[in-house]
Formats: sequence, structure tokens, C-alpha cells
Amino acid sequence: MIILGIESSCDESAAAVLDYAGAGKSKVLAHALRSQEDEHAPFGGVVPELAARAHLAHLDRLIAHAMQEAGIGWRDLNAVAATAGPGLIGGVMTGLLTGKMIALAHKIPFCPINHLEAHALSPRLISAEIHYPYLLLLVSGGHSLLASISGAGKARVWGQSRDDAAGEVFDKTARLLGLGFPGGAALERLADEGNPQRFSLPLPMRGAEHCDLSFAGLKSAVRREAETLPQGKAGACARADLAASFQAAMAASLAERSAKAMQHHRQSLEKEARPYFVVAGGVAANRTIRETLARAAQAQGFRFTAPPHWLCTDNAAMVAYAGGERLAAGLEGRLDAPARARWPLGQ
Ligand code: KG4
Ligand code: ZN
Repeated sequence: MIILGIESSCDESAAAVLDYAGAGKSKVLAHALRSQEDEHAPFGGVVPELAARAHLAHLDRLIAHAMQEAGIGWRDLNAVAATAGPGLIGGVMTGLLTGKMIALAHKIPFCPINHLEAHALSPRLISAEIHYPYLLLLVSGGHSLLASISGAGKARVWGQSRDDAAGEVFDKTARLLGLGFPGGAALERLADEGNPQRFSLPLPMRGAEHCDLSFAGLKSAVRREAETLPQGKAGACARADLAASFQAAMAASLAERSAKAMQHHRQSLEKEARPYFVVAGGVAANRTIRETLARAAQAQGFRFTAPPHWLCTDNAAMVAYAGGERLAAGLEGRLDAPARARWPLGQ
């Protein structure tokens, strides 16, 4: 099943062509992506109106490019999948309408995709081993949540962030340290040079029975430390140490909360097994976080995997794959599906 995927929910315009054949057997024939980072950087965050205009200006070309690279024409397409939310509504509408038009013109099935579900299913695109149900930690710029995933459209959310999303806190901390926007990857590079033990930072929600996350306390603690950093060479060193200490605290907090969700997930299973724990979303690109989560999984008797970097951050291959999973489950979408700014996973 050849599926065209379209992504436009935030600041990445993307198109991909996927040969869907189930978990681990699907092939990405082409993926094209244009990041709008440079347009938004001067404003220190994503400007919704600019994002929508940029998606409109570039999506057609990206789709044509992906189709050409995949070596296919319109007649070869079996379905179209486009992100229908959650996200910045102008951008979502641009990609969603583009996808609907292509499906309508070529009389092929259309799948409106929940962006969170696309992230949630993305590990299956590259691994045949990740069977349902598995435990997911989704950490992106807009969301942080822990959920058991039992199939397309089947998610049980154990907990989510009560305040900022993990990626948002990475971006705000990066800005505090003068690293620009979006700062997650830049902060990781700075942290590589620092000492993660220098600053002692709080681990929010530690020990709580529920699986919710919270980062407000950690964010404030980092701000307080940043305000007292020395100037000059000692200051540069201290900045790297603060970046490393923040990253370590974030990793430890995510691992502790995930371990709690692993216990809930295991209790919900019918038979004794060695279940999978997967991490997805942009923050999953962080090496320290991946390593810390891998250790937590091992301690709980879970197997662990994280998608490759390009699949962690926003892309259209995961949207096409989610379309494939939905169609394989008999969940064809409707051409009148609305664009949604808010759309919780599993609803
Ligand atoms: O999933 P994503 O590409 O977009 C959303 O759906 O939000 O995630 C983007 C987020 C940003 O906050 C970015 O700073 C963060 O992922 N991020 C990282 C890294 N790479 C991207 N955070 C920490 N370490 C990284 N290496
Ligand atoms: Zn995303």
C-alpha cells in the first residue's frame, strides 16, 4: 500500500511516500522536509501566522519532490494521510486540505492523523518486534505523556505533564543559557562539555503513585541558578555545568516517572511477559535521556527502543505510517474530518 504522508502541525513542512507493509516491513521510499527554524528564530518561538504561510508556500513543492524521489505518479498512490491536529490551526488546515484535495481528485482513501498517534506508532515503522500493547513515553515540544498503546486508535494514557512539555522546558532553558531557538539539540551539545553533578536540581513528582509529570519546579530552579552564574571564562564553564545538570535532572525525572508507568502497564497485561517500552518525540533524540531510559527499562524487566533521530522529530513518514496502521485496522477517515488545535491521544 503506497501512502503519501503530509505533516504541517508546527514548524516543519514535510511530505513522505511510504510503502506500508506493517511493523518493521514498511519502506520509506522518500521523505522531504523543510524546517522553518530560521523564520521563527528571531522571535524566540514559533509564530503561528508565519508558520501557516510557510507551509502554504512550500508543501506543494515538497510533495512533488517526495513523489519524484520515490519514482511514483499519482496513479500509484493508494492512500493519503495528513496530520489533522493537534497543532497550530493555520498550519494544520494547510496540510489537511492539501491531503484531502489529493485524495478527492484521485479517488483514494484519506486518513486524518492525530500527530501524537503518529509519534506513538513511529517505533513500529522501523521494528517488527514492537508488538501491541507497548508502553510509550512521548516527549515533544508540545506534549509529555505516558500511555499504553494497543493499536491504532487505542491508547490508555497513564499520565501527562501538569505544566510545561519536556521539549518546551528544554527550549526555555536553552534560551536562558543564550542558545537560541529551538534549543534542545544545542543544549545537548553544551551539556556534553559540562559536569552534570555540579548543580543539585529537584526531581518533580518523585515517588508519586500516579504517573503525571511536572517540570515547573525544575524550570524555576534552573532559572535561579542561571541568575547567579559568574561572568567570563568561569561563567562559560558554569553554563555548561548547568546545562549538563539540567539534562541529567530531566533524564532522571523522565526515567522515574516512566518506571512508575511500567508498573501500571505490567499490571494491565494478561500474561507475564517482557514488554516493550518505547520513547518517541523530539526530546527522544537526546542521548542522555535515551541512555537513562534504557537503564530504567532494564531495571523493570522491559525491553527498550527509541526511533532514529530523524524519526523522533517531526516528519511525514510517521504520518504515512500511522495512516497505514489505521487503514490496516479498517479505520478509513472521512473527507470532512475537521482540523483540531487540541486533540488528546486516544480520543
Ligand atoms: O516532536 P518535535 O519535533 O515537535 C513537536 O511535535 O513538538 O519536538 C520538538 C522538541 C523541541 O522542543 C526541541 O527542542 C526538542 O524537541 N529536541 C530536543 C533535542 N532535539 C529536539 N530536546 C533535547 N535534546 C535534543 N537533542
Ligand atoms: Zn511532534
